[in-house]
Amino acid sequence: MFRFALLFSALFLFPALAFADGEVGPRASTASKELMKAINNNLLETVNGGGFASAIGQCDHDKARFPARTSQRAQLVKIARVSLKPRNPKNAPDTFEAQQLVQMKEDLAKGELKPRYIGKEVVNGKKYYRFMEAIRASAFCLNCHGTESELDKDAIAKIRKMYPLDRGSGYREGDLMGAVSVVIPMGD
Ligand code: HEC
Repeated sequence: MFRFALLFSALFLFPALAFADGEVGPRASTASKELMKAINNNLLETVNGGGFASAIGQCDHDKARFPARTSQRAQLVKIARVSLKPRNPKNAPDTFEAQQLVQMKEDLAKGELKPRYIGKEVVNGKKYYRFMEAIRASAFCLNCHGTESELDKDAIAKIRKMYPLDRGSGYREGDLMGAVSVVIPMGD
């Protein structure tokens, strides 16, 4: 329900935008890569400056210094990171995202993870392109998302206070943590 509310409020703001079939794929892929780069840069810079506990606010896609925030981002209905085991409940997947995340997990276990997972969806007669790209854990991430012995003690103490419903730890290097999800309005 919450997801649909987001979708509709974005539609209300940008009612005339729609993109051709050939445009949506590259647009989604670029936006996804830019967002991940912005988050990683924010994290690295802040961790280097003041350690993991100081960088907690930087692993948040809403706060990332996403270069497309003003131009390209305005043309997407949605760009976010979602996870089946989110730290922040607002990063829980919708139906399409949950299905793709389960598929990604299966594909990864078989060594067949795809670079992107895409689909089309019609909501209230309007067509949307849906794009997802897997996010996997690197060693660096485990300081805040890993198993108990790898977690940075100060950081995880703060995180557990801020996110009492946290399900975003216990990962090992290479695990699927979630995905970037992009939704773009399409022409008829
Ligand atoms: C300094 C601690 C810290 C580090 C390092 C960190 N994260 Fe996070 N991560 C968080 C916090 C806090 C959140 C919750 C953000 C929010 O409120 O949306 C989060 C959320 C996420 C989410 C969104 C889903 C969810 O669980 O809510 C993903 C995906 C994610 N992190 C992946 C990564 C990856 C991949 C790395 C390594 C490149 C990484 N994180 C490194 C603290 C961290």
